[in-house]
Amino acid sequence: MATLLHLEASARRRSISREVGEAFAASWRAAHPGGTYLHRDLALDPVPFIGEAWTELCDHILANTITEIDRYKEAVRTPAQAEAWAVVEPLLNELVAADVVLISTPMYNYSIPASLKAWLDQVTFPKMSLAGRRFVVATARGGSYSPGAPKARFDYQERFLRDFFAGHFAVEDTTFINAELANSRLDPALAHLRTAHDASLAAALQAAHDLGKDF
Ligand SMILES: Cc1cc2nc3c(=O)[nH]c(=O)nc-3n(C[C@H](O)[C@H](O)[C@H](O)COP(=O)(O)O)c2cc1C
Repeated sequence: MATLLHLEASARRRSISREVGEAFAASWRAAHPGGTYLHRDLALDPVPFIGEAWTELCDHILANTITEIDRYKEAVRTPAQAEAWAVVEPLLNELVAADVVLISTPMYNYSIPASLKAWLDQVTFPKMSLAGRRFVVATARGGSYSPGAPKARFDYQERFLRDFFAGHFAVEDTTFINAELANSRLDPALAHLRTAHDASLAAALQAAHDLGKDF
């Protein structure tokens, strides 16, 4: 049975990245009527930052060459580590259960929100592999970072996530759906880009709908 894990990271409810991600999720659910849909709102219900006990789990896993995810709990040796593991385990279980991981995220400060980084820190262990799973990222950005745009080189959101999933999860082919120029809705100096934003959002919603059927 197919499983979709959908993570959301925008600090606001009326959010463009949520809208695009929801278009993908709705389309995926329609195409997989018997599928399992797991949803986690990282902004509304944030996961804690990793602490010292988490680093002890990670160090033990590395030092003992534990590469199978279902063996990670062998690293738990103290009450503090058990507490840290109690946070990690449900997050990892959801991730491992998923065939498709959908992340709806805004660009914050050229990168990702701290809520999403906190989740990545919790679920990422040395030499783990999630190969075979498909990752889709629905983003919203205030500006444009498309090839040729003056600020293209400042895009540490797509670059970071693409490289992170390849380097840490062995997932090489993350799909990005980017809705750009959202600040044209607010910033009078960018008002002339509103039509381009509307087109970018419409294209993102269409891509999300189309991809949701295929994943
Ligand atoms: C804290 C914060 C930082 C932001 N940093 C950037 C940025 O570096 N570059 C950019 O293009 N837009 C930036 N924006 C604008 C957001 O990317 C834009 O509002 C986007 O639509 C947010 O996604 P959402 O609609 O899903 O909430 C920032 C917004 C906030 C609230």
